[in-house]
Amino acid sequence: MPIEQTLILIKPDGLHRKLTGLTIDRLDNAGLEMVAAKMVGVTAELAEKHYAEHVGKPFYANLIKYIRGEFHGLADHRVLAMVYRGEGCIAKVREIAGATNPEAAKPGTIRGSFGRVTTAGQFENVLHASANAADAAREVALWFRNGEILP
Ligand code: RTP
Ligand code: MG
Repeated sequence: MPIEQTLILIKPDGLHRKLTGLTIDRLDNAGLEMVAAKMVGVTAELAEKHYAEHVGKPFYANLIKYIRGEFHGLADHRVLAMVYRGEGCIAKVREIAGATNPEAAKPGTIRGSFGRVTTAGQFENVLHASANAADAAREVALWFRNGEILP
């Protein structure tokens, strides 16, 4: 399997519910290496670029509010952004994360154990993980400058 990089975001619910350490621990245990990390204030522009594929979908407006911390009262709209590197790491991280809908995610995955669907129907699923190699390349470049990632 090729060595890959993937973008991971600890979303506002993950930060609010103190799931950062648990998430990093699971990625460590999978043998993946963190090669960049920083807290980022998510502007509307960054959120819209990140989720450009979802423009026009019924959940889009709330998705932008969610990733900007507006459902969790986070100061400065912060998320923790990280790049991980490792063999086949894009698929490995998606497996550890679990399915998008926390109610459909396998028990024991991060989303299956800690995600929730709110009464308003919002998926609060703890983390973002790039879906494929093209998305990973685009997302890593969107969130990080070259000098911020370990060579
Ligand atoms: P993400 O991009 O955040 O890692 O999640 P994902 O690939 O598993 O799922 P994606 O289809 O890219 O959806 C992005 C985010 O939009 C919200 N969503 N809500 N109510 C719905 O039907 C619905 N579908 C998607 C979720 O917050 C999801 O993580
Ligand atoms: Mg996605």
